[in-house]
Amino acid sequence: MDKFNIAIDGPAGAGKSTIARLVAGALGFVYVDTGAMYRAVTWKVQQEGLSPDQESEVIALANRMRIELVPTAEGQQVYVDGVDVTKAIRTIAITDHVSQIASIGAIRELLVAMQKQMAVSKGIVMDGRDIGTHVIPDAELKIFLTASVSERAERRFKEMQSSGTCTMTLEELAQDIARRDQLDQNREISPLRRADDAILMDSTSMTINEVVDEILGLCKSKVGGGK
Ligand code: CDP
Ligand code: CDP
Repeated sequence: MDKFNIAIDGPAGAGKSTIARLVAGALGFVYVDTGAMYRAVTWKVQQEGLSPDQESEVIALANRMRIELVPTAEGQQVYVDGVDVTKAIRTIAITDHVSQIASIGAIRELLVAMQKQMAVSKGIVMDGRDIGTHVIPDAELKIFLTASVSERAERRFKEMQSSGTCTMTLEELAQDIARRDQLDQNREISPLRRADDAILMDSTSMTINEVVDEILGLCKSKVGGGK
């Protein structure tokens, strides 16, 4: 069977990037983390000393900057105007402002156009918030991956503890995740929601391997295995 596209959407900490990367690896597909693109714009806005409220300046800056995504064995490297920002875009300072930047319509239009272009060649596993509803509405397989807020906060907490970057308590992390869920679900343009034809997977009590195996099983039954 020819290459096809997989859209994985869901809230923060549901496991989208981990699972999308592993599924792409198993199928020999390319993984695209669209959240990293919104984070890259947020990084550049901060570098230039702009506030997310300065919308027209933010939009002009986003139109001038160059974002490159380079697929690697570990996932994806992100460059802004030639600077490797892969790590820098994961800091709390970026996480705190990214949803505000992502609610600006002109920024979404710009990034969505780039994402649609990436999906044209097929063989893409793309994760985000609006992939199945807006970016690749014709994706052959759509997954809406979720988990309870407490489980998602716990996962993020463990992740930060093991990388030695834990500056928040578990409660603060849960509040931050709930705040971002709220912003992402209630924004006017392309809010986070399950596409009508997306398969809902609640991963609260599932391991990473269980989720990956289930998605690979769906690939086989829905589109014939991918290769
Ligand atoms: O990794 P995490 O789930 O924390 O977030 P992310 O996927 O890196 O996305 C960061 C933020 O970008 C989200 O909270 C959304 O506000 C925004 N985003 C979006 O609006 N649309 C997308 N397709 C991807 C991310
Ligand atoms: O991309 P998203 O924000 O949806 O989540 P992620 O960054 O892929 O996953 C957040 C954390 O949860 C990572 O440390 C994963 O290893 C972990 N995880 C887990 O423990 N069990 C799962 N079923 C999925 C993810």
